[in-house]
Amino acid sequence: MQQVKDRVFSGTQPTGVPTLGNYVGAYRNWLKMQDDYDCLFCVVDMHSLTVRNDAAELRKNAKSLLALYLAVGFDPEKCILYFQSHVPEHAQLSWILNCYTYMGELSRMTQFKDKSAKHSENINAGLFTYPVLMAADILLFNVQYVPVGEDQKQHVEITRDIAERFNNIYGDVFTIPKPLISNVGARIMSLSVPENKMSKSDDASGYISMLDTTDVIISKFKKAVTDSEKEVRYDPKAKPGVSNLLTIYSVMTDKSVKDAEKDFEGVGYGGFKLAVGEAVADKLKPIQDEYNRIMDDKVYLESVSKDGAQKARKIAMKTYGKVARKVGLAQI
Ligand code: TRP
Repeated sequence: MQQVKDRVFSGTQPTGVPTLGNYVGAYRNWLKMQDDYDCLFCVVDMHSLTVRNDAAELRKNAKSLLALYLAVGFDPEKCILYFQSHVPEHAQLSWILNCYTYMGELSRMTQFKDKSAKHSENINAGLFTYPVLMAADILLFNVQYVPVGEDQKQHVEITRDIAERFNNIYGDVFTIPKPLISNVGARIMSLSVPENKMSKSDDASGYISMLDTTDVIISKFKKAVTDSEKEVRYDPKAKPGVSNLLTIYSVMTDKSVKDAEKDFEGVGYGGFKLAVGEAVADKLKPIQDEYNRIMDDKVYLESVSKDGAQKARKIAMKTYGKVARKVGLAQI
């Protein structure tokens, strides 16, 4: 079948529950793409093996992430939702691409440097070749766009380099993908250290999990770090905490930051923080209700997963077959 719409691929690792930062910076933007593009949204469970996990927990998190994709509104009729490990061509292409990727370029990846400093007891080869698996994820599907956070931009760039290198040798095999870096709310910062990006590896008071209850959300916002002034004003340099809260509020309520500032003229930080917490809780509550409903519907989850893997595989096999032929793998 002819590919009519441009194609988009992105993925999330099933390590823990996604945060408000994932929702604002990623899912909210991906959602807007599902009508205009052919989208694949993947649960990249194989990437998570680069650090040690409890097996039962990883499996549970993967299922939970698929349910969350559905709960935020990804429609399996419009986009392909699946688990990376269910489509073996990811690993197969990754091996081949490993042979077209240099040690030097992989050792320059900032995420590898950060992660190997953090997990100095387990600097495994998978951590090193992580970007090659990511390149395989993307290149299997001939996608035009890869929506990612700023921190993943370098990985999309190495994907482009690998694809171009391969195409230079074998002709136009791969589409060269472009990163799409979200701007508004791309950087939701930690509530406890607003100079840092919100991350699930923070201490629990710094981030909002998408499945935090209303009470927990409000209490975390009440404790959010601000500053010693009194004015609710957007100024990320001088007032990182307040500015982060304003960004969050503006995204949750679909208001501009300017209008958000106006809502809080003359309001103290206590009232401001409570209002932001309530706006977040109001936004997440219907998603959480839907998530709980879907988690209880095993039959539905299974059918989405099977159907997604089947559709993804159909595309992946075609690309992989072409690559295997080009590089000379046995055909008989
Ligand atoms: N590395 C990405 C992250 O940690 C996840 C990911 C894996 C991904 N494969 C991908 C993102 C392909 C976009 C495209 O956020």
